[in-house]
Amino acid sequence: PLNELNERLVLGTSLEESNDAAGFDMNGDESTVSITVVGASGDLAKKKIFPALFALYYEGFLPKHFTIFGYARSKMTDAELRNMVSRTLTCRIDKRENCDEKMDEFLKRCFYHSGQYDSQENFAALDKKLMAHEGGRVSNRLFYLSIPPNIFIDAVRCASSSASSGNGWTRVIVEKPFGRDSESSAAMTKSLKQYLKEDQIFRIDHYLGKELVENLSVLRFSNLIFEPLWSRQYIRNVQLIFSEDFGTEGRGGYFDHYGIIRDIMQNHLLQILALFAMETPVSLDAEDTRNEKVKVLRSMRPLRLEDVVTGQYKSHTKGGVSYPAYTDDKTVSKDSLTPTFAAAALFIDNARWDGVPFLMKAGKALHTRRTEIRVQFRHVPGNLYNRNFGTDLDRATNELVIRVQPDEAIYLKINNKVPGLGMRLDRSHLNLHYAARYSKEIPDAYERLLLDAIEGERRLFIRSDELDAAWALFTPLLKELEEKKIIPEYYPYGSRGPVGAHYLAARYNVRWG
Ligand code: NDP
Ligand code: BG6
Repeated sequence: PLNELNERLVLGTSLEESNDAAGFDMNGDESTVSITVVGASGDLAKKKIFPALFALYYEGFLPKHFTIFGYARSKMTDAELRNMVSRTLTCRIDKRENCDEKMDEFLKRCFYHSGQYDSQENFAALDKKLMAHEGGRVSNRLFYLSIPPNIFIDAVRCASSSASSGNGWTRVIVEKPFGRDSESSAAMTKSLKQYLKEDQIFRIDHYLGKELVENLSVLRFSNLIFEPLWSRQYIRNVQLIFSEDFGTEGRGGYFDHYGIIRDIMQNHLLQILALFAMETPVSLDAEDTRNEKVKVLRSMRPLRLEDVVTGQYKSHTKGGVSYPAYTDDKTVSKDSLTPTFAAAALFIDNARWDGVPFLMKAGKALHTRRTEIRVQFRHVPGNLYNRNFGTDLDRATNELVIRVQPDEAIYLKINNKVPGLGMRLDRSHLNLHYAARYSKEIPDAYERLLLDAIEGERRLFIRSDELDAAWALFTPLLKELEEKKIIPEYYPYGSRGPVGAHYLAARYNVRWG
Protein backbone atom coordinates (compact mmCIF):
# COMPACT_ATOMS: atom_id res chain seq x y z
CA PRO A 1 0.00 0.00 0.00
CA LEU A 2 2.80 2.42 0.75
CA ASN A 3 4.10 1.87 -2.75
CA GLU A 4 0.70 2.56 -4.12
CA LEU A 5 0.51 5.68 -2.03
CA ASN A 6 3.80 6.84 -3.46
CA GLU A 7 2.58 5.88 -6.91
CA ARG A 8 -0.54 7.92 -6.30
CA LEU A 9 1.53 10.92 -5.40
CA VAL A 10 4.18 10.56 -8.02
CA LEU A 11 2.85 13.39 -10.12
CA GLY A 12 1.91 15.54 -7.21
CA THR A 13 3.47 16.24 -3.90
CA SER A 14 5.88 13.97 -2.09
CA LEU A 15 4.64 11.80 0.74
CA GLU A 16 5.97 14.16 3.40
CA GLU A 17 4.55 17.19 1.68
CA SER A 18 1.23 15.48 1.35
CA ASN A 19 1.14 14.56 5.01
CA ASP A 20 2.15 18.05 5.80
CA ALA A 21 -0.66 19.47 3.72
CA ALA A 22 -3.09 17.10 5.38
CA GLY A 23 -1.82 18.16 8.79
CA PHE A 24 -1.36 14.65 10.11
CA ASP A 25 1.10 11.85 9.98
CA MET A 26 -0.52 9.14 7.85
CA ASN A 27 1.20 6.25 9.59
CA GLY A 28 2.23 7.78 12.87
CA ASP A 29 0.98 7.34 16.39
CA GLU A 30 0.42 11.00 17.09
CA SER A 31 -2.72 11.71 15.16
CA THR A 32 -6.09 10.25 14.43
CA VAL A 33 -8.80 10.77 11.84
CA SER A 34 -12.46 10.54 12.78
CA ILE A 35 -14.90 10.28 9.91
CA THR A 36 -18.53 11.02 10.73
CA VAL A 37 -21.10 10.10 8.13
CA VAL A 38 -24.03 12.37 8.87
CA GLY A 39 -27.13 10.71 7.43
CA ALA A 40 -25.62 7.24 7.87
CA SER A 41 -29.00 5.54 7.57
CA GLY A 42 -29.49 6.88 4.03
CA ASP A 43 -29.13 5.58 0.51
CA LEU A 44 -25.85 7.29 -0.40
CA ALA A 45 -24.15 6.25 2.83
CA LYS A 46 -25.06 2.61 2.26
CA LYS A 47 -24.45 2.54 -1.47
CA LYS A 48 -21.30 4.60 -1.75
CA ILE A 49 -19.72 6.04 1.38
CA PHE A 50 -19.31 2.97 3.60
CA PRO A 51 -18.21 0.74 0.70
CA ALA A 52 -15.65 3.35 -0.36
CA LEU A 53 -14.32 3.64 3.19
CA PHE A 54 -14.00 -0.11 3.41
CA ALA A 55 -12.19 -0.27 0.06
CA LEU A 56 -9.75 2.37 1.31
CA TYR A 57 -9.22 0.39 4.50
CA TYR A 58 -8.72 -2.84 2.57
CA GLU A 59 -6.12 -1.21 0.34
CA GLY A 60 -4.27 0.26 3.33
CA PHE A 61 -5.08 3.88 2.55
CA LEU A 62 -6.67 4.80 5.87
CA PRO A 63 -4.32 6.04 8.58
CA LYS A 64 -3.30 3.83 11.48
CA HIS A 65 -5.68 5.50 13.92
CA PHE A 66 -9.10 6.12 12.49
CA THR A 67 -12.67 5.83 13.68
CA ILE A 68 -15.86 5.95 11.65
CA PHE A 69 -19.09 7.18 13.17
CA GLY A 70 -22.51 6.99 11.62
CA TYR A 71 -24.85 9.76 12.74
CA ALA A 72 -28.58 9.99 11.94
CA ARG A 73 -31.96 10.23 13.66
CA SER A 74 -32.80 6.55 13.18
CA LYS A 75 -32.28 4.49 16.28
CA MET A 76 -29.49 1.98 15.72
CA THR A 77 -26.88 0.28 17.87
CA ASP A 78 -23.25 -0.05 16.83
CA ALA A 79 -23.98 -3.70 16.03
CA GLU A 80 -26.92 -2.73 13.82
CA LEU A 81 -24.83 -0.19 11.93
CA ARG A 82 -22.11 -2.83 11.43
CA ASN A 83 -24.70 -5.25 10.22
CA MET A 84 -26.07 -2.67 7.79
CA VAL A 85 -22.58 -1.86 6.49
CA SER A 86 -21.58 -5.48 5.94
CA ARG A 87 -24.93 -6.37 4.37
CA THR A 88 -24.95 -3.55 1.88
CA LEU A 89 -21.34 -3.78 0.91
CA THR A 90 -21.22 -4.07 -2.83
CA CYS A 91 -17.82 -2.75 -3.63
CA ARG A 92 -15.05 -3.99 -5.89
CA ILE A 93 -13.32 -5.69 -2.95
CA ASP A 94 -16.11 -8.24 -2.42
CA LYS A 95 -14.39 -11.17 -4.04
CA ARG A 96 -10.88 -10.44 -2.84
CA GLU A 97 -8.71 -12.51 -0.58
CA ASN A 98 -9.28 -12.06 3.18
CA CYS A 99 -12.24 -9.86 2.53
CA ASP A 100 -14.24 -11.21 5.49
CA GLU A 101 -11.32 -10.89 7.85
CA LYS A 102 -10.65 -7.32 6.73
CA MET A 103 -14.33 -6.54 7.03
CA ASP A 104 -14.36 -7.72 10.63
CA GLU A 105 -11.38 -5.51 11.43
CA PHE A 106 -13.01 -2.57 9.65
CA LEU A 107 -16.34 -2.99 11.41
CA LYS A 108 -14.63 -2.87 14.80
CA ARG A 109 -13.70 0.72 13.93
CA CYS A 110 -17.31 1.68 13.02
CA PHE A 111 -19.74 3.13 15.58
CA TYR A 112 -23.11 4.78 15.57
CA HIS A 113 -24.62 7.73 17.36
CA SER A 114 -28.25 8.63 17.02
CA GLY A 115 -29.20 12.29 17.07
CA GLN A 116 -31.18 15.12 15.52
CA TYR A 117 -29.52 17.30 12.90
CA ASP A 118 -30.51 20.50 14.70
CA SER A 119 -29.53 19.51 18.23
CA GLN A 120 -26.34 20.94 19.68
CA GLU A 121 -26.81 18.63 22.62
CA ASN A 122 -26.85 15.53 20.40
CA PHE A 123 -23.75 16.68 18.51
CA ALA A 124 -22.04 17.45 21.84
CA ALA A 125 -22.66 13.85 22.90
CA LEU A 126 -21.12 12.70 19.60
CA ASP A 127 -18.15 14.98 20.25
CA LYS A 128 -17.57 13.28 23.61
CA LYS A 129 -17.55 9.86 21.97
CA LEU A 130 -15.17 11.09 19.27
CA MET A 131 -12.82 12.45 21.92
CA ALA A 132 -12.85 9.16 23.80
CA HIS A 133 -11.82 7.34 20.61
CA GLU A 134 -9.18 9.91 19.77
CA GLY A 135 -7.44 9.10 23.04
CA GLY A 136 -5.67 12.45 23.38
CA ARG A 137 -4.00 12.27 19.96
CA VAL A 138 -4.05 15.14 17.44
CA SER A 139 -7.63 14.94 16.29
CA ASN A 140 -8.49 15.40 12.64
CA ARG A 141 -12.16 15.25 11.81
CA LEU A 142 -14.01 14.74 8.58
CA PHE A 143 -17.79 15.17 8.47
CA TYR A 144 -19.61 13.84 5.42
CA LEU A 145 -23.00 15.53 5.06
CA SER A 146 -25.00 12.79 3.39
CA ILE A 147 -28.35 14.39 4.15
CA PRO A 148 -30.89 16.44 2.21
CA PRO A 149 -29.62 19.98 1.56
CA ASN A 150 -32.33 21.72 3.61
CA ILE A 151 -30.69 20.40 6.78
CA PHE A 152 -27.01 21.03 5.85
CA ILE A 153 -26.77 24.30 7.68
CA ASP A 154 -28.42 23.05 10.89
CA ALA A 155 -26.02 20.13 10.97
CA VAL A 156 -22.96 22.32 10.34
CA ARG A 157 -24.08 24.85 12.96
CA CYS A 158 -24.69 22.21 15.61
CA ALA A 159 -21.59 20.17 14.81
CA SER A 160 -19.32 23.22 14.84
CA SER A 161 -20.73 24.85 17.96
CA SER A 162 -20.61 21.66 19.99
CA ALA A 163 -17.14 20.50 18.85
CA SER A 164 -14.31 20.55 21.37
CA SER A 165 -11.53 22.79 20.15
CA GLY A 166 -9.38 20.13 18.56
CA ASN A 167 -5.75 20.50 17.62
CA GLY A 168 -6.03 18.98 14.14
CA TRP A 169 -8.08 19.89 11.10
CA THR A 170 -11.87 19.75 10.62
CA ARG A 171 -13.26 19.31 7.11
CA VAL A 172 -16.80 18.97 5.84
CA ILE A 173 -17.78 17.16 2.66
CA VAL A 174 -20.98 18.55 1.19
CA GLU A 175 -23.03 16.65 -1.38
CA LYS A 176 -24.87 18.26 -4.25
CA PRO A 177 -27.30 19.85 -4.88
CA PHE A 178 -25.57 23.10 -3.96
CA GLY A 179 -28.73 25.18 -4.29
CA ARG A 180 -31.18 25.44 -7.20
CA ASP A 181 -29.88 28.62 -8.80
CA SER A 182 -27.37 31.44 -8.32
CA GLU A 183 -29.25 33.01 -5.40
CA SER A 184 -29.92 29.85 -3.38
CA SER A 185 -26.39 28.58 -4.00
CA ALA A 186 -24.89 31.91 -2.85
CA ALA A 187 -27.13 31.83 0.23
CA MET A 188 -25.95 28.31 1.06
CA THR A 189 -22.31 29.29 0.65
CA LYS A 190 -22.86 32.34 2.86
CA SER A 191 -24.48 30.23 5.57
CA LEU A 192 -21.77 27.58 5.44
CA LYS A 193 -19.12 30.28 5.72
CA GLN A 194 -20.64 31.48 8.99
CA TYR A 195 -19.30 28.28 10.52
CA LEU A 196 -16.55 27.10 8.18
CA LYS A 197 -13.70 28.60 6.19
CA GLU A 198 -13.72 27.97 2.44
CA ASP A 199 -10.76 25.61 2.77
CA GLN A 200 -12.74 23.43 5.17
CA ILE A 201 -15.59 22.94 2.69
CA PHE A 202 -15.21 20.05 0.27
CA ARG A 203 -18.04 20.25 -2.30
CA ILE A 204 -18.21 16.91 -3.97
CA ASP A 205 -18.98 16.30 -7.63
CA HIS A 206 -18.39 12.59 -7.86
CA TYR A 207 -17.82 12.76 -11.61
CA LEU A 208 -14.50 14.43 -10.87
CA GLY A 209 -13.47 11.25 -9.06
CA LYS A 210 -14.11 9.03 -12.07
CA GLU A 211 -10.98 7.52 -13.55
CA LEU A 212 -11.39 8.84 -17.09
CA VAL A 213 -12.33 12.30 -15.96
CA GLU A 214 -9.22 12.38 -13.79
CA ASN A 215 -7.28 11.16 -16.82
CA LEU A 216 -8.39 14.04 -19.04
CA SER A 217 -5.57 16.30 -17.91
CA VAL A 218 -3.00 13.53 -18.33
CA LEU A 219 -4.24 12.82 -21.83
CA ARG A 220 -4.14 16.47 -22.83
CA PHE A 221 -1.05 17.74 -21.10
CA SER A 222 1.33 14.81 -21.19
CA ASN A 223 0.93 13.75 -24.82
CA LEU A 224 2.29 15.85 -27.62
CA ILE A 225 -0.25 14.68 -30.14
CA PHE A 226 -3.46 15.96 -28.51
CA GLU A 227 -2.82 19.42 -27.13
CA PRO A 228 -1.77 21.02 -30.45
CA LEU A 229 -5.09 19.86 -31.95
CA TRP A 230 -7.16 20.99 -28.96
CA SER A 231 -8.72 24.15 -30.39
CA ARG A 232 -11.13 25.65 -32.90
CA GLN A 233 -8.50 25.16 -35.57
CA TYR A 234 -8.92 21.37 -35.63
CA ILE A 235 -11.97 20.55 -33.54
CA ARG A 236 -15.39 20.91 -35.14
CA ASN A 237 -17.50 20.16 -32.08
CA VAL A 238 -17.36 18.48 -28.71
CA GLN A 239 -20.17 16.33 -27.31
CA LEU A 240 -20.75 15.49 -23.68
CA ILE A 241 -23.27 12.71 -23.37
CA PHE A 242 -24.84 11.27 -20.24
CA SER A 243 -27.53 8.66 -20.54
CA GLU A 244 -29.11 6.25 -18.09
CA ASP A 245 -31.33 3.32 -19.00
CA PHE A 246 -33.46 3.70 -15.87
CA GLY A 247 -35.81 6.39 -14.68
CA THR A 248 -35.99 8.35 -11.45
CA GLU A 249 -37.51 5.39 -9.60
CA GLY A 250 -37.29 5.96 -5.86
CA ARG A 251 -35.81 9.47 -6.18
CA GLY A 252 -38.76 11.22 -7.81
CA GLY A 253 -39.34 13.48 -4.81
CA TYR A 254 -35.81 14.87 -4.98
CA PHE A 255 -35.65 14.90 -8.76
CA ASP A 256 -38.87 16.78 -9.34
CA HIS A 257 -37.50 19.77 -7.47
CA TYR A 258 -34.32 19.82 -9.58
CA GLY A 259 -34.70 18.22 -13.02
CA ILE A 260 -31.98 16.87 -15.29
CA ILE A 261 -30.36 20.25 -16.04
CA ARG A 262 -29.54 20.82 -12.36
CA ASP A 263 -29.00 17.14 -11.59
CA ILE A 264 -26.46 16.38 -14.31
CA MET A 265 -25.66 19.26 -16.68
CA GLN A 266 -24.89 22.15 -14.35
CA ASN A 267 -22.46 19.99 -12.38
CA HIS A 268 -21.24 16.66 -13.79
CA LEU A 269 -21.18 17.58 -17.50
CA LEU A 270 -20.09 21.16 -16.96
CA GLN A 271 -17.20 20.02 -14.78
CA ILE A 272 -16.05 17.67 -17.52
CA LEU A 273 -16.38 20.49 -20.03
CA ALA A 274 -14.26 22.80 -17.88
CA LEU A 275 -11.48 20.22 -17.54
CA PHE A 276 -11.68 19.49 -21.23
CA ALA A 277 -11.50 23.11 -22.35
CA MET A 278 -9.36 24.89 -19.74
CA GLU A 279 -5.91 26.27 -20.48
CA THR A 280 -2.84 24.50 -19.08
CA PRO A 281 -2.67 25.13 -15.33
CA VAL A 282 0.54 26.64 -13.97
CA SER A 283 1.08 23.52 -11.84
CA LEU A 284 -0.74 20.51 -10.48
CA ASP A 285 -1.60 22.47 -7.38
CA ALA A 286 -5.34 22.43 -6.67
CA GLU A 287 -5.70 26.20 -6.87
CA ASP A 288 -3.98 26.39 -10.25
CA THR A 289 -6.38 23.85 -11.77
CA ARG A 290 -9.39 25.45 -10.14
CA ASN A 291 -8.30 28.89 -11.36
CA GLU A 292 -8.21 27.62 -14.93
CA LYS A 293 -11.62 26.00 -14.59
CA VAL A 294 -13.13 29.24 -13.30
CA LYS A 295 -11.57 31.15 -16.21
CA VAL A 296 -13.09 28.89 -18.83
CA LEU A 297 -16.50 28.87 -17.12
CA ARG A 298 -16.48 32.65 -17.01
CA SER A 299 -15.68 32.77 -20.74
CA MET A 300 -18.85 30.87 -21.55
CA ARG A 301 -22.11 32.37 -22.75
CA PRO A 302 -25.10 31.85 -20.45
CA LEU A 303 -27.48 29.36 -22.04
CA ARG A 304 -30.34 30.68 -24.16
CA LEU A 305 -33.71 29.02 -24.40
CA GLU A 306 -33.34 28.57 -28.17
CA ASP A 307 -30.19 26.50 -27.63
CA VAL A 308 -31.91 24.00 -25.40
CA VAL A 309 -34.33 21.10 -25.91
CA THR A 310 -36.05 19.46 -22.95
CA GLY A 311 -37.87 16.16 -22.69
CA GLN A 312 -39.71 13.96 -20.22
CA TYR A 313 -40.18 10.22 -20.45
CA LYS A 314 -43.58 8.68 -20.87
CA SER A 315 -44.68 5.11 -20.30
CA HIS A 316 -43.83 2.47 -22.83
CA THR A 317 -44.51 -1.23 -23.24
CA LYS A 318 -41.87 -3.43 -24.79
CA GLY A 319 -41.81 -7.21 -25.05
CA GLY A 320 -44.81 -7.43 -22.76
CA VAL A 321 -43.08 -5.37 -20.05
CA SER A 322 -44.50 -1.98 -19.29
CA TYR A 323 -42.23 0.82 -18.17
CA PRO A 324 -43.65 3.76 -16.18
CA ALA A 325 -43.90 7.40 -17.16
CA TYR A 326 -42.00 9.91 -15.04
CA THR A 327 -45.29 11.22 -13.70
CA ASP A 328 -46.38 7.72 -12.62
CA ASP A 329 -44.06 8.15 -9.64
CA LYS A 330 -46.28 8.80 -6.61
CA THR A 331 -43.96 11.55 -5.36
CA VAL A 332 -44.27 13.47 -8.66
CA SER A 333 -47.32 15.54 -9.56
CA LYS A 334 -49.26 14.39 -12.59
CA ASP A 335 -48.77 17.70 -14.38
CA SER A 336 -45.05 18.02 -13.64
CA LEU A 337 -43.07 19.69 -16.44
CA THR A 338 -39.70 18.76 -14.93
CA PRO A 339 -37.30 17.69 -17.66
CA THR A 340 -35.81 14.21 -17.41
CA PHE A 341 -33.90 14.88 -20.62
CA ALA A 342 -32.14 17.94 -21.98
CA ALA A 343 -29.83 18.76 -24.86
CA ALA A 344 -28.00 22.07 -25.10
CA ALA A 345 -25.46 23.91 -27.21
CA LEU A 346 -22.87 25.87 -25.25
CA PHE A 347 -20.17 28.23 -26.44
CA ILE A 348 -16.89 29.43 -25.03
CA ASP A 349 -16.04 32.93 -26.15
CA ASN A 350 -12.29 32.77 -25.99
CA ALA A 351 -9.49 32.56 -28.53
CA ARG A 352 -9.16 28.80 -28.30
CA TRP A 353 -12.82 27.84 -28.67
CA ASP A 354 -14.52 30.70 -30.50
CA GLY A 355 -17.40 29.25 -32.58
CA VAL A 356 -16.98 25.61 -31.53
CA PRO A 357 -20.28 24.14 -30.31
CA PHE A 358 -20.07 22.12 -27.11
CA LEU A 359 -23.16 19.97 -27.20
CA MET A 360 -24.46 18.41 -24.03
CA LYS A 361 -27.09 15.73 -23.78
CA ALA A 362 -28.34 14.19 -20.54
CA GLY A 363 -31.28 11.92 -20.01
CA LYS A 364 -32.91 9.31 -17.84
CA ALA A 365 -34.87 6.28 -19.04
CA LEU A 366 -33.07 6.14 -22.38
CA HIS A 367 -32.07 3.06 -24.38
CA THR A 368 -28.59 2.74 -22.89
CA ARG A 369 -26.35 3.71 -19.98
CA ARG A 370 -23.21 5.58 -20.94
CA THR A 371 -21.20 8.72 -20.30
CA GLU A 372 -18.95 9.86 -23.11
CA ILE A 373 -16.93 12.76 -24.37
CA ARG A 374 -16.85 12.84 -28.16
CA VAL A 375 -14.50 15.11 -30.01
CA GLN A 376 -15.22 15.47 -33.70
CA PHE A 377 -12.35 16.85 -35.72
CA ARG A 378 -12.56 18.95 -38.89
CA HIS A 379 -12.21 17.42 -42.34
CA VAL A 380 -8.82 17.10 -43.99
CA PRO A 381 -8.48 20.13 -46.30
CA GLY A 382 -8.21 19.07 -49.96
CA ASN A 383 -8.29 15.42 -48.99
CA LEU A 384 -6.33 13.45 -51.58
CA TYR A 385 -8.59 10.45 -51.21
CA ASN A 386 -11.73 12.41 -51.86
CA ARG A 387 -10.22 13.72 -55.06
CA ASN A 388 -8.89 10.42 -56.33
CA PHE A 389 -11.51 7.97 -55.22
CA GLY A 390 -14.64 10.04 -54.98
CA THR A 391 -15.14 8.88 -51.39
CA ASP A 392 -16.83 11.21 -48.99
CA LEU A 393 -14.22 11.46 -46.29
CA ASP A 394 -15.57 14.84 -45.27
CA ARG A 395 -18.23 12.90 -43.43
CA ALA A 396 -15.79 10.36 -42.04
CA THR A 397 -13.68 12.78 -40.04
CA ASN A 398 -11.55 11.73 -37.10
CA GLU A 399 -13.32 11.35 -33.81
CA LEU A 400 -11.83 10.87 -30.37
CA VAL A 401 -14.12 9.13 -27.91
CA ILE A 402 -13.47 9.08 -24.19
CA ARG A 403 -15.90 6.61 -22.69
CA VAL A 404 -16.14 7.52 -19.03
CA GLN A 405 -18.45 4.60 -18.26
CA PRO A 406 -19.31 1.80 -18.49
CA ASP A 407 -16.46 -0.27 -19.93
CA GLU A 408 -13.96 2.58 -19.83
CA ALA A 409 -12.11 3.24 -23.07
CA ILE A 410 -10.40 5.89 -25.16
CA TYR A 411 -10.55 5.36 -28.88
CA LEU A 412 -9.77 7.32 -31.97
CA LYS A 413 -11.65 6.79 -35.18
CA ILE A 414 -9.38 6.96 -38.18
CA ASN A 415 -9.66 6.25 -41.89
CA ASN A 416 -7.62 3.25 -42.86
CA LYS A 417 -6.87 1.23 -45.96
CA VAL A 418 -8.62 -2.11 -46.07
CA PRO A 419 -5.84 -4.67 -46.59
CA GLY A 420 -5.69 -6.05 -50.11
CA LEU A 421 -4.63 -5.19 -53.61
CA GLY A 422 -7.32 -2.63 -54.21
CA MET A 423 -7.66 0.75 -52.54
CA ARG A 424 -10.63 0.75 -50.28
CA LEU A 425 -10.85 2.80 -47.11
CA ASP A 426 -12.78 2.09 -43.98
CA ARG A 427 -13.22 3.57 -40.51
CA SER A 428 -11.14 1.84 -37.87
CA HIS A 429 -10.46 2.42 -34.20
CA LEU A 430 -7.20 2.90 -32.36
CA ASN A 431 -8.56 1.54 -29.15
CA LEU A 432 -7.37 1.81 -25.55
CA HIS A 433 -9.78 -0.50 -23.83
CA TYR A 434 -9.17 -0.35 -20.11
CA ALA A 435 -10.31 -3.88 -19.25
CA ALA A 436 -7.88 -5.30 -21.80
CA ARG A 437 -4.96 -3.01 -20.96
CA TYR A 438 -5.11 -2.79 -17.17
CA SER A 439 -5.68 -5.77 -14.91
CA LYS A 440 -6.48 -3.70 -11.81
CA GLU A 441 -10.12 -2.79 -11.19
CA ILE A 442 -11.05 0.85 -11.41
CA PRO A 443 -11.74 2.37 -7.98
CA ASP A 444 -15.10 3.93 -7.33
CA ALA A 445 -15.12 7.72 -7.60
CA TYR A 446 -16.03 8.03 -3.92
CA GLU A 447 -12.84 6.21 -2.88
CA ARG A 448 -10.64 8.74 -4.62
CA LEU A 449 -12.62 11.69 -3.31
CA LEU A 450 -12.75 10.49 0.29
CA LEU A 451 -9.03 9.82 0.25
CA ASP A 452 -8.38 13.27 -1.20
CA ALA A 453 -10.51 14.88 1.49
CA ILE A 454 -8.57 12.99 4.19
CA GLU A 455 -5.30 14.07 2.61
CA GLY A 456 -6.45 17.68 2.20
CA GLU A 457 -6.16 17.55 -1.59
CA ARG A 458 -8.74 19.99 -2.97
CA ARG A 459 -8.17 19.71 -6.72
CA LEU A 460 -11.23 17.52 -7.34
CA PHE A 461 -13.60 19.57 -5.18
CA ILE A 462 -15.59 22.59 -6.29
CA ARG A 463 -14.51 26.01 -5.05
CA SER A 464 -17.21 28.58 -4.34
CA ASP A 465 -16.27 30.89 -7.24
CA GLU A 466 -16.44 27.88 -9.58
CA LEU A 467 -19.89 27.12 -8.30
CA ASP A 468 -20.99 30.75 -8.81
CA ALA A 469 -19.67 30.70 -12.38
CA ALA A 470 -21.49 27.42 -13.09
CA TRP A 471 -24.80 28.71 -11.78
CA ALA A 472 -24.42 32.00 -13.67
CA LEU A 473 -24.51 30.01 -16.92
CA PHE A 474 -27.66 28.05 -16.13
CA THR A 475 -29.77 30.28 -13.87
CA PRO A 476 -31.31 32.55 -16.55
CA LEU A 477 -32.31 29.52 -18.64
CA LEU A 478 -33.76 27.63 -15.66
CA LYS A 479 -35.80 30.69 -14.68
CA GLU A 480 -37.13 31.12 -18.21
CA LEU A 481 -38.04 27.43 -18.54
CA GLU A 482 -40.00 27.63 -15.31
CA GLU A 483 -41.60 31.04 -15.84
CA LYS A 484 -42.72 30.20 -19.37
CA LYS A 485 -43.78 26.71 -18.27
CA ILE A 486 -42.03 25.20 -21.27
CA ILE A 487 -43.56 21.84 -22.08
CA PRO A 488 -40.96 19.11 -22.49
CA GLU A 489 -41.01 16.87 -25.54
CA TYR A 490 -42.30 13.46 -24.42
CA TYR A 491 -40.23 10.41 -25.30
CA PRO A 492 -40.94 6.74 -24.61
CA TYR A 493 -39.10 5.08 -21.72
CA GLY A 494 -36.14 3.19 -23.19
CA SER A 495 -35.97 5.23 -26.42
CA ARG A 496 -33.21 7.47 -27.77
CA GLY A 497 -34.88 10.59 -26.43
CA PRO A 498 -36.68 13.48 -28.14
CA VAL A 499 -36.04 14.08 -31.83
CA GLY A 500 -35.70 17.77 -30.99
CA ALA A 501 -32.16 16.97 -29.81
CA HIS A 502 -31.27 16.00 -33.39
CA TYR A 503 -32.68 19.22 -34.83
CA LEU A 504 -30.73 21.20 -32.27
CA ALA A 505 -27.48 19.44 -33.22
CA ALA A 506 -28.26 19.79 -36.93
CA ARG A 507 -28.47 23.59 -36.51
CA TYR A 508 -24.77 23.44 -35.69
CA ASN A 509 -23.99 20.88 -38.37
CA VAL A 510 -23.50 18.17 -35.80
CA ARG A 511 -24.65 14.57 -35.66
CA TRP A 512 -24.75 13.01 -32.23
CA GLY A 513 -22.26 10.22 -31.80
P1 NDP B 1 -31.67 10.19 1.87
O1 NDP B 1 -32.96 10.77 1.44
O2 NDP B 1 -31.55 8.70 1.94
O3 NDP B 1 -31.33 10.87 3.27
C1 NDP B 1 -30.23 10.50 4.08
C2 NDP B 1 -30.67 10.47 5.53
O4 NDP B 1 -31.07 11.77 5.93
C3 NDP B 1 -31.89 9.59 5.74
O5 NDP B 1 -31.52 8.26 5.98
C4 NDP B 1 -32.55 10.22 6.93
O6 NDP B 1 -31.92 9.71 8.11
C5 NDP B 1 -32.18 11.68 6.82
N1 NDP B 1 -33.29 12.45 6.24
C6 NDP B 1 -33.92 12.23 5.07
N2 NDP B 1 -34.88 13.16 4.87
C7 NDP B 1 -34.86 13.97 5.93
C8 NDP B 1 -35.59 15.11 6.30
N3 NDP B 1 -36.55 15.60 5.53
N4 NDP B 1 -35.30 15.71 7.47
C9 NDP B 1 -34.33 15.23 8.26
N5 NDP B 1 -33.59 14.14 7.94
C10 NDP B 1 -33.84 13.53 6.80
O7 NDP B 1 -30.54 10.83 0.96
P2 NDP B 1 -29.39 10.12 0.14
O8 NDP B 1 -28.65 9.21 1.04
O9 NDP B 1 -29.95 9.60 -1.11
O10 NDP B 1 -28.48 11.37 -0.26
C11 NDP B 1 -27.77 12.15 0.67
C12 NDP B 1 -27.27 13.40 0.01
O11 NDP B 1 -26.47 13.05 -1.11
C13 NDP B 1 -28.37 14.30 -0.53
O12 NDP B 1 -27.92 15.63 -0.45
C14 NDP B 1 -28.47 13.87 -1.99
O13 NDP B 1 -28.98 14.89 -2.79
C15 NDP B 1 -27.01 13.60 -2.31
N6 NDP B 1 -26.80 12.65 -3.40
C16 NDP B 1 -27.35 11.38 -3.33
C17 NDP B 1 -27.10 10.48 -4.34
C18 NDP B 1 -27.63 9.07 -4.28
O14 NDP B 1 -27.31 8.28 -5.17
N7 NDP B 1 -28.42 8.70 -3.28
C19 NDP B 1 -26.27 10.84 -5.52
C20 NDP B 1 -25.73 12.17 -5.46
C21 NDP B 1 -26.01 13.03 -4.43
P3 NDP B 1 -32.66 9.64 9.52
O15 NDP B 1 -34.12 9.64 9.30
O16 NDP B 1 -32.14 8.37 10.11
O17 NDP B 1 -32.15 10.84 10.22
C1 BG6 C 1 -26.10 11.75 -9.35
C2 BG6 C 1 -27.47 12.12 -9.84
O1 BG6 C 1 -25.37 12.90 -9.06
O2 BG6 C 1 -25.42 11.00 -10.35
C3 BG6 C 1 -28.25 10.87 -10.24
O3 BG6 C 1 -28.15 12.80 -8.82
C4 BG6 C 1 -27.45 10.03 -11.22
O4 BG6 C 1 -29.48 11.24 -10.82
C5 BG6 C 1 -26.06 9.79 -10.69
O5 BG6 C 1 -28.14 8.81 -11.39
C6 BG6 C 1 -25.20 9.09 -11.73
O6 BG6 C 1 -23.99 8.72 -11.17
P1 BG6 C 1 -23.18 7.48 -11.74
O7 BG6 C 1 -21.89 7.55 -11.02
O8 BG6 C 1 -24.00 6.27 -11.40
O9 BG6 C 1 -23.08 7.68 -13.20
